[in-house]
Amino acid sequence: MGFQVVDHPLIKHKLGLLRRVDTSISHFRQLTQEITILLTYEATRDLILEPRSVMTWQGKAQAERISGKKISVVPILRAGLGMLDGVLALIPSARVNVVGLYRNEETLYPVEYYKKFNNDIQIRDALIIDPMLATGHSMAKVCEMLAEEGCSNIKALCMVAAPEGVQYMDEHFPGVTIYAAALDDHLNEDGYIIPGLGDAGDRIFGTK
Ligand code: URA
Repeated sequence: MGFQVVDHPLIKHKLGLLRRVDTSISHFRQLTQEITILLTYEATRDLILEPRSVMTWQGKAQAERISGKKISVVPILRAGLGMLDGVLALIPSARVNVVGLYRNEETLYPVEYYKKFNNDIQIRDALIIDPMLATGHSMAKVCEMLAEEGCSNIKALCMVAAPEGVQYMDEHFPGVTIYAAALDDHLNEDGYIIPGLGDAGDRIFGTK
């Protein structure tokens, strides 16, 4: 439970490339996908297995498979979509449950404008994806939405986290484990993570 920086040389190397201001859109997308694959590998370590008999070239043998219903991936629009292919590369049968949030400019808190959840979301493990854990308000809002649906096993993946976001999530959803490629220094007055990646949505979608 809590927060974990996934410590791996490949992640560190790829994150260094992702941070570069001159990294092209296509490379940024590719690196985001590759880092997400590595984060997904770590976040799914505790999936439960069950024995299964399979027919091999030498007759029957015992194998294993993942038990029960698979994961629902929950991308937060829009930047979360950039991580989706990475999760699906490892879990191709995962359900995708998209959430859209906008910021109320008076309260500065996120408000839901779109949600499409599976009917059986409560029996699946949820994996929220959002590249930047900044204030933590969006992630906490999605956790609240999932909890309202009866979802009790929630994890999250992000590329870069700010200490402010980690603390907020720890205060509001201590049972949610967040897997990140890095924990950065702080948030600036505009809410950007420093040093961070800049606007991850713009870099993934090629907008400015
Ligand atoms: N969202 C981003 O895209 N970048 C940040 O640094 C913070 C939030």
